[in-house]
Amino acid sequence: MPSKRKILATQALPYANGTPHLGHMVGMIQTDIWVRLQKMRGHDCLFVCGSDSHGTPIMIQAEKMGLTPETLIEQIRHEQEKDFADFYIEFDNYHTTHSPENQELVGVIFKRHRDQDNICKRTITQLFDPVKNMFLPDRYIKGECPHCSAKDQYGDNCEVCGGTYSPTDLKNPYSTLSGAKPIEKQSEHYFFKLQNYEGFLKEWTRHGHLQEQVTNKLDEWFKEGLKEWDISRDKPYFGFLIPGEQDKYFYVWLDAPVGYIASFKKLCERRPDLNFNEYWGKDSSVELIHFIGKDIIYFHALFWPAILHGAHFRTPTQIIVNGFLTIDGQKMSKSRGTFIKARTYLNHLQPEYLRYYFAAKLSDRIEDLDIHFDDFTNRINADLVGKFINIASRCASFINKHFDSQLTAECPEPDLYQTFAQAGDDIAEKWESMNFSQAIRQIMALADRANQYIDEKKPWAMIKDPEQRPQVHAVCSMGMNLFRVLMIYLKPVLPHTAKQVETFLKVPPLQWNDKDKPLLNHTIGEFQPLMSRIDPKQIEAMKMATKEEMQPAASNNNNAEKIAPPAPEAKKEFISIDDFAKVDLRVAKILEAAAVEGADKLLRLIVDIGSDEKRQIFAGIKSAYQPEELIGRHVVIVANLEPRKMRFGVSEGMVLAAGPGGKDLWVISPDPGAEAGSKVK
Ligand code: 2FM
Ligand code: ZN
Repeated sequence: MPSKRKILATQALPYANGTPHLGHMVGMIQTDIWVRLQKMRGHDCLFVCGSDSHGTPIMIQAEKMGLTPETLIEQIRHEQEKDFADFYIEFDNYHTTHSPENQELVGVIFKRHRDQDNICKRTITQLFDPVKNMFLPDRYIKGECPHCSAKDQYGDNCEVCGGTYSPTDLKNPYSTLSGAKPIEKQSEHYFFKLQNYEGFLKEWTRHGHLQEQVTNKLDEWFKEGLKEWDISRDKPYFGFLIPGEQDKYFYVWLDAPVGYIASFKKLCERRPDLNFNEYWGKDSSVELIHFIGKDIIYFHALFWPAILHGAHFRTPTQIIVNGFLTIDGQKMSKSRGTFIKARTYLNHLQPEYLRYYFAAKLSDRIEDLDIHFDDFTNRINADLVGKFINIASRCASFINKHFDSQLTAECPEPDLYQTFAQAGDDIAEKWESMNFSQAIRQIMALADRANQYIDEKKPWAMIKDPEQRPQVHAVCSMGMNLFRVLMIYLKPVLPHTAKQVETFLKVPPLQWNDKDKPLLNHTIGEFQPLMSRIDPKQIEAMKMATKEEMQPAASNNNNAEKIAPPAPEAKKEFISIDDFAKVDLRVAKILEAAAVEGADKLLRLIVDIGSDEKRQIFAGIKSAYQPEELIGRHVVIVANLEPRKMRFGVSEGMVLAAGPGGKDLWVISPDPGAEAGSKVK
């Protein structure tokens, strides 16, 4: 066992303009497992994170929702904290980049670089939206590809022919925010002279801080040559004003990683035992490990070490990069209904299933990780329930029932126990080096061995013979001990189950080294089922709920980097009065309202639409109303909407409601006096 290490781990800060989805969970779970392992092994390991709260997409998203950016980022931060906590992600601090700590630190870093002449100012020409009165980031410009003329291509590359270009090369460009034709406009920007750090970076990137694949990627970038980095943005922008400027802001990517330091600084307020300089000072010996996704290597492996080094902060010890999440082999997609939100998953499935599945697939290489839901179900049911939990459920009932819940005083099979305990060093090394899938494979091989031992001894047969009772006691005590060792090895992945097991075994929180000593002459508690099998219906219900959420009403924003803003083809189209007349809008009275099992957003309503006619309508208003409060209310419905067959029954109309969604949704009600059946004109 190495001596006690001091470690600070971080996970890439998720943007504060979108609900967490399963893609976010890959890195979160990877980091959390690794941190929990360190803690269990007695190291002093802290985990900080927070919301990445600045930038144009957040400003635009807030505007679309009729909120201030400050309100939006706080809402999302709470949502992120709740979702991550429910996946058992245990941060020491979860902060925001829109914080006084971050502003101060960014100011210090900027000043230190400016004083060393690492910052220059230059006038550049960019595309400008004359209607929105703002410069347009590339992703908000579309047009025809200059190579193949494909329509509606983004400002930097063509999805049809794969060509790359600059937004000014697009034919017939338009702003996706207003539809207007962008004009070219000049503005003065601040640049960080990254090339000043070429020597330092070439050295740093080859000193064991990075995975091999990352080093190779960096070599390509070195060959292309390091370029000055534009670190400013013009107003309107949501971010920190550059000191001395009135309408220029730091680019979000300058202050985002500084958010790691700010989150730690905030933690120091709560933890006076922590010394800020010990962690972030130039000569820090604390290990600093950044876990990130593969799309943000440039920022973390080039800009960030250069920024830190030049500003006299310590540089990272290691950057660990993971791949993207795919579902059934394809990118998560709203149109395919595979854009699964963290919350939707949690509404249907246990968080530990996903933690285990990701662990079983993660390696130290930068590979995409695929969820194939049949494989997911089989794996959880076979490995976790069928092999691991099965050991306890096979043995505990005998101990409870026939031996007064008491384990034997001696270890019945010391050699077998030793095999299990000694494997722990190897397994710890696999967790430690991010070879999670190998760790899981080794743990499951041990679980097979434990089951095989029980199969060979057959306690259920021996118990019938009173003379063989001592053997039954020995086998089942041994089984329980092997189970306990496996629980120790899986505890970083299954923290909730571990807690239940600790209660059931009546032991203090399990530490890694507890593997070395079996539990003997010890009274355990009553066995309770620890984990249930996945029923494929749960998966179906989650998929269905995801599809429902993707209906247009659920205009939920998401990860700014990957989701395009609305395109201008959504230009207003008019309908004729005749078209409107086709819509049969009627006042209806709600007679019954109830939640729908397996649907997160729906209420099942029975409404009276006059002339003794009743209709069943499934309305997506559950987030805003308790069913009881709706009963007796008059609302407006579309009465001639084609009936829609849903999983829960047929929906025979639509209740009109207004608002962005979630709690902010209001059904449209007529003034008192309107009767059910009245036509709405
Ligand atoms: O790519 C992203 O999702 C960014 N929000 C990650 C920021 S990581 C750090 F630099 F803050
Ligand atoms: Zn093209």
